[in-house]
Amino acid sequence: MTPIRLGVLASGRGSNLQAIIDAIESNTLDATIAVVVSNKKGSMAIERAQQHGIQDIFLDPKSMEGESNPRQVYDQKILEVLKEHEVELVLLAGYMKIVTPVLIDAYQSRMMNIHPSLLPSFPGLGAQKQALYAGVKVSGCTVHFVTEGVDEGPIILQTAVSVHEDDTVDSLSARILEQEHQLFPQAVQLFAEGRIGVEERRARVLETAP
Ligand code: GRF
Repeated sequence: MTPIRLGVLASGRGSNLQAIIDAIESNTLDATIAVVVSNKKGSMAIERAQQHGIQDIFLDPKSMEGESNPRQVYDQKILEVLKEHEVELVLLAGYMKIVTPVLIDAYQSRMMNIHPSLLPSFPGLGAQKQALYAGVKVSGCTVHFVTEGVDEGPIILQTAVSVHEDDTVDSLSARILEQEHQLFPQAVQLFAEGRIGVEERRARVLETAP
C-alpha cells in the first residue's frame, strides 16, 4: 500500500507533529509527511520538520494584509502548497489560525484537528483552563474532522483523562498531551486504512475498510 500523503499545519511547539513523525518512523503509521506549513517563522514545528528532512514552508499571514479577504487569500496559498505536494489528508497540529471555507471545502472529511478537551465541551482557546474552572472530574482530548464551526465537526476518536483535585493548567495539560500523542497517530492510521466513515454529523470507526 502506498503511504498516505499528509500535510501538517502547525504554529508552535509541534509536539503533535513530532508524535506523527515518530509513529511514521517506528512503522506504526503508514503515512508520509509531504509538507509542514507554518504561519509562524522559526516555530519549533518547523525546526522539527527540518531535523527529520521534511519539506517545510513558512507562509507569512502579514504578506496578505493589503488584500480585501486576507484570510481567504492566505488559505488559497496554503491550498496551492497542499495541492503541489499532493496532500491527501491535512492535519491541524496546534495550528493557531482559523481556517476558512477555502481549505475546509477543498479538504472536506480530509482535514483533522486535535483539541485538548472532550468536545463538545470546552471548544476554543484555553480548553484545560475552562475544564478546571468548570470543575469537571474528567477531561481529555478529541480528534475530529474540521468543519466551519471552531472545534466542531464529526468526532473521530477521544481519550478521557482524570482531573485531579490539585491540578494546575500545566499539570492537566501535560497529562492530556501525553494522550494526544497517542490519539492523533491512531486517528490518522484509521484514515489511512479507509476505516473512517462519515454520515452527516457523525464519524464512525469501521471494523474493516468498505
Ligand atoms: C495541543 O494541546 C493541541 O491539542 C492544541 O494545541 C496544542 C498544540 O501543541 N490544538 P503542539 O504544538 O502539538 O505541541
